[in-house]
Amino acid sequence: MTPSIVLGIETSCDETAVAILATEGTGIKILGEAISSQIDVHARYGGVVPEIASREHLAALPLLCENLLAEARIGSDSLDAIGVTVGPGLKGCLLVGLVYSQAVASALSIPLVPVNHIEGHLVSHELSHGPLEAPYLALVVSGGHTELHRVEGFGKYAIIARTRDDAAGEAFDKSAALLGFPYPGGPALAALADTVPSSRFSLPKVSREMSDFSFSGLKTAVMLQVSKNRSLLLEDGSARAEMACAVQSAILETLIQKILAARRATGLTKLVVVGGVSVNRSLRARLGAEFGADVIFPAPKHCTDNGSMIALAASKRLSLGSSIHSSVEVRSRWPVEEMIL
Ligand code: KG4
Ligand code: ZN
Repeated sequence: MTPSIVLGIETSCDETAVAILATEGTGIKILGEAISSQIDVHARYGGVVPEIASREHLAALPLLCENLLAEARIGSDSLDAIGVTVGPGLKGCLLVGLVYSQAVASALSIPLVPVNHIEGHLVSHELSHGPLEAPYLALVVSGGHTELHRVEGFGKYAIIARTRDDAAGEAFDKSAALLGFPYPGGPALAALADTVPSSRFSLPKVSREMSDFSFSGLKTAVMLQVSKNRSLLLEDGSARAEMACAVQSAILETLIQKILAARRATGLTKLVVVGGVSVNRSLRARLGAEFGADVIFPAPKHCTDNGSMIALAASKRLSLGSSIHSSVEVRSRWPVEEMIL
């Protein structure tokens, strides 16, 4: 890998995130990173409103980049390349990041590297732990994605399972909304769930036969349980925590059963878990008990969307000589296993 300084830009959903990364060989140094979250703006609508998200990115991105360069004490002429998320994600949001990046890259006459957001998550653990020797299993578990891959190396992904409907983070957030938490309620639901050791409520068990993940049935089951126990949940604080515990267990059990089945089927013993839900303490504890030192999680700030993971994925693509397209388009859908080097 030749030494390079890469600016990473991420605008695929509701976080405007930027970072400057210096890489040399397998060495990685984060020179600066910044994030502008839109959660407060979307919370009043109970979810991400795409048009508003695009406008927020447009307002935040130029200043965020300017401040980042100033704080990292990097002149724009020191940048070797820009990596930008071009998919999967919300089209209008991706366009803001792409058009801005194209303008800056063209003004500086440096390459622009289109990055797959999922590939960004898939390398995010390396920001803290360095490269992991392939092959290994990798679970991407976030608000928009839930997919389990067999990783043979950078750019070599084979899908094992992905969600047929809702993502795991979405299941956390939708269940949390039913329990009265403001959007995105996943972290608050998880924190409440961890205050009780068990639950008097039961939710549907994982379907072991199904090869993919599915979480939409859980949402319906939670809705039924909440309406059946409405007054109990209002009067008894412990009941609300136990309902949160039942929801968390159902989601985590689905993830864990599929991972264990994949370990048996592939014989792979190493596991990487990335994406917003990989912050979850119970998930970390359960997988830690199963995999010991062979399970790796990114630092919490790199589990959720961030610019450093995009800069790293771009830097790897650049050093491996992947072609830089002059005409790049955004892609709302872009399965990461289609990213062939
Ligand atoms: O990766 P991310 O920032 O955005 C997407 O690419 O979707 O993930 C955000 C998701 C949200 O659904 C949020 O509720 C969930 O991650 N999340 C959690 C926790 N922290 C964040 N879910 C469960 N437990 C947590 N501690
Ligand atoms: Zn993400």
